[in-house]
Amino acid sequence: MVASCRHADLVAAAGPYAQLVAAQRRHVCGATREGTGKAASLGAIFQPDGERQMAAVLIKNGRIVTAVDDYQADILIEDGRIRTIGQGLVVGNQVETHDASGLLVMPGGIDVHTHLDWDFGVARTVDTFGTGTKAAAFGGTTTVIDFCNQTRGASPLVGLEDWHRRAASASVDVGAHMIMLDVNDQSLTDMQTLIRREGVTSFKLFMAYPGVLMLDDGALFKAMRLAGGHGAMICVHAENGQVIQVLVEEAVAAGRVAPKYHSLTRPTSMEGEATHRAIKIAELAETPLYVVHLSAREALAAVAEARDAGLPVHAETCPHYLFLTQEKYDRPEFDGAKYVMTPPLRDANHQQALWRGLSTNDLQVISTDHCPFCFNEQLFGMKFSKQQGKDDFSKIPNGAPGIETRLPLVYDGGVRQRGLSLNRFVALTATNPAKLFGLFPKKGTIAVGSDGDIVLFDPQDTWTIRASEHHSRVDYSLFEGHTLTGSVKKVFLRGQLIVDGKDWHGREGMGEFLRRGACGTL
Ligand code: URP
Ligand code: ZN
Ligand code: ZN
Repeated sequence: MVASCRHADLVAAAGPYAQLVAAQRRHVCGATREGTGKAASLGAIFQPDGERQMAAVLIKNGRIVTAVDDYQADILIEDGRIRTIGQGLVVGNQVETHDASGLLVMPGGIDVHTHLDWDFGVARTVDTFGTGTKAAAFGGTTTVIDFCNQTRGASPLVGLEDWHRRAASASVDVGAHMIMLDVNDQSLTDMQTLIRREGVTSFKLFMAYPGVLMLDDGALFKAMRLAGGHGAMICVHAENGQVIQVLVEEAVAAGRVAPKYHSLTRPTSMEGEATHRAIKIAELAETPLYVVHLSAREALAAVAEARDAGLPVHAETCPHYLFLTQEKYDRPEFDGAKYVMTPPLRDANHQQALWRGLSTNDLQVISTDHCPFCFNEQLFGMKFSKQQGKDDFSKIPNGAPGIETRLPLVYDGGVRQRGLSLNRFVALTATNPAKLFGLFPKKGTIAVGSDGDIVLFDPQDTWTIRASEHHSRVDYSLFEGHTLTGSVKKVFLRGQLIVDGKDWHGREGMGEFLRRGACGTL
């Protein structure tokens, strides 16, 4: 830690964004690039319980791992919150007791990028909130922040109402980001209402998918300016949509229609260009930025450069970019369609850069971008299936599943095989998402007063991923046949045991809506 640096005395007279930048710079000037850990303030924190009444739960003899600590202790949860942490806690026999000997005791995972029961052009994702969040729970995730969207010409508040109707079946806690499609005076006012009244404090803006979701740079700038002034986070899908559209149209016109052309028409340079552009616009708009599903070295370089300059710029990547490469598109028949997500899988050099970014803190979060479409048509119909693009890759619904396998994949590939620390593992999958998206310390850590969202994780158990055993409605896994060491044994949501080995004790509708506070920076 460094007490002061050359930027410090410039700050006093500056506005909030300049102070934020200065705080980030001060940090970069220090010996470490780890985040400051500044918590979001404060709407979401320690809200009153309402009429909650639950049995007390004791988790004993476990190894508690948070983003900063690693120690042996017992945890007592009462009324859904962590009441006491200590060694050798003694409780009466009315307390439900779980022995965590040999297990890691970690905060429930937070997945800040999902698309559940979502209309995407002419396709619709196949998981309901009920099935998707059950799958999340089996994977150790107890909080999901899902994308809802404005419909062009309508208020985003209407989009949120519709999302609430669908999200009512959630079995873990859920928050919402809003995808903005129209940026005008009324929708800018509605954004303020979303932030202040509805607890929706982050917005996704698309620089890709022209004609469907894409905004022009002026709209990006206006939405960013509004967000920055109100404690909200702007999430960007950063790819140059217009250039990519030209490449896609040319490929299709030339008869290059197999799934691999999805990857060949979305060059990494166009992800890098858009990421750089988003950062520059955000800087001018004085807003913190969060780049979603970052896959390319060029994009990471733009984020790293911004962070080195002290800008509040953040980024996530996803397990598929960390564990899979573009060779998947060469699989026979139409099988490559399973891997059609945007951005596409890249080559091993990009993958190595991402792993490096996770350890240098240029990437702060691993989310899933769970956007599930079935491979086969028969199960739920063409609307939910990749088969829409059988004769034309540009019609394959973009997106892939992953909500259930994030924690075990990152534990095995990150902690066991690449030396990521356990603390960093928790930071990337729970604590940083909570801090960035206005949920900390209610969520994302194990501390007195925090929600009793806990995962008991067996670091020794070896198992193999099989779509036939997962809980999502989707009919395939990107990671079919991958053998991993490390598995989720028990999951508690606000003190209630919802997953016990292969048994489900949760129920649809038990998830609570998370009205989030102001977003933080790291
Ligand atoms: O292919 C993807 N990622 N589909 C979901 C929509 C998005 O861009 O996040
Ligand atoms: Zn996206
Ligand atoms: Zn997405």
